[in-house]
Amino acid sequence: MKINHNIQLKPFNTFGLDAQAACMIDIENWDDLQALADATNDFPKPYFCIGQGSNLLFSRDFEGTLIRMVNKGWEVIEEYQDYVLIRAGAGCDWDEFVEQTLGKGYFGLENLSFIPGTVGSSPVQNIGAYGVEASQFIERVHCFDWESGLFATIEKEYCEFGYRKSVFKQHPSWVVMWVEYALSKIPQTQTYYKALEDYLVKNELDSENPMIIRNAVVDIRNSKLPDHKKIGNAGSFFKNPVVDAGLFESIRARHPEMPFYMESETNFKIPAAWLIEQCGWKGFQLNGAGVHEKQPLILVNLGSATGKDVLELAGRIVESIKNDFGIELHPEVIVL
Ligand code: EPU
Repeated sequence: MKINHNIQLKPFNTFGLDAQAACMIDIENWDDLQALADATNDFPKPYFCIGQGSNLLFSRDFEGTLIRMVNKGWEVIEEYQDYVLIRAGAGCDWDEFVEQTLGKGYFGLENLSFIPGTVGSSPVQNIGAYGVEASQFIERVHCFDWESGLFATIEKEYCEFGYRKSVFKQHPSWVVMWVEYALSKIPQTQTYYKALEDYLVKNELDSENPMIIRNAVVDIRNSKLPDHKKIGNAGSFFKNPVVDAGLFESIRARHPEMPFYMESETNFKIPAAWLIEQCGWKGFQLNGAGVHEKQPLILVNLGSATGKDVLELAGRIVESIKNDFGIELHPEVIVL
């Protein structure tokens, strides 16, 4: 395994924030993992697994050890009439994995195209977009727990998947090594998410062709979301809040135009982007941090922001939405 000390983190987080980690270890294969398992007490603690750093905010220097899984590659391990079971290395680039599986005729991940990050982070965050979540396709996850030094396979029913959450998010000492995905050999596209449906209708595209769906998603994301290579960001900064019927109705009485999704008979999900826009934050800048002018759910590093600047801006947004709407926003990004 590759071990580095006193690492500058700017290239390792999509926010492009300056911070330093005491230690960083790259794990490429099974031998590296065994070596790590034998030496868990030899490196500064705590440990944290970072993937491509696309959902992270470094609020200060990290005094522990960052683990990067760089085991790439995927293979079909079982094949059935209608679907295949694929085992993918945690270090695979997520979008390359999506593109390659579609190219081979294994369908399902098309709506999750163009999401920054790795295969290893897909179950942790239960990544989701355009009406689809990774958990719909994950069968099991192979992990290593550096606290106990044990290896474990977690079947999907024990992954505790929810909206941007999982058992892995609650256990930062678990390193995801491989993820098994069940993908269909028969296209079954899901196009009911409004932005996607509108795009397909407007451009008169075939909504049953997964490759067309992928291209549509890439295009929509490109038009709305900032490219982290040009302007630092970590995607949606907050989760969309879910409120009960009482609060929902009281806000709707004041704002009949409020967009929402029904989570259940009694719970309503409200787009945080709408709340943030209502409170006048769109395009706002504070020191080097800003609220993206096209998609206000995304906080950006305009070039010179520190993690503290971004956190301060986030804190002010949370406070104003609490005051105006009585809703508490929670970060989607992991703050270290
Ligand atoms: N909206 C506004 N003002 C804006 C932009 C959006 O009011 O300036 C409202 C609109 O009503 C729009 C609604 O917000 O219909 C939803 O916007 P969008 O479709 O862009 O989705 P989102 O709720 O902002 C979520 C995910 C994204 C995912 C998209 C598409 C979360 C926290 N974010 O964003 O995921 O790509 O849906 O499915 O659930 C991520 O997790 O990092 C991420 C980018």
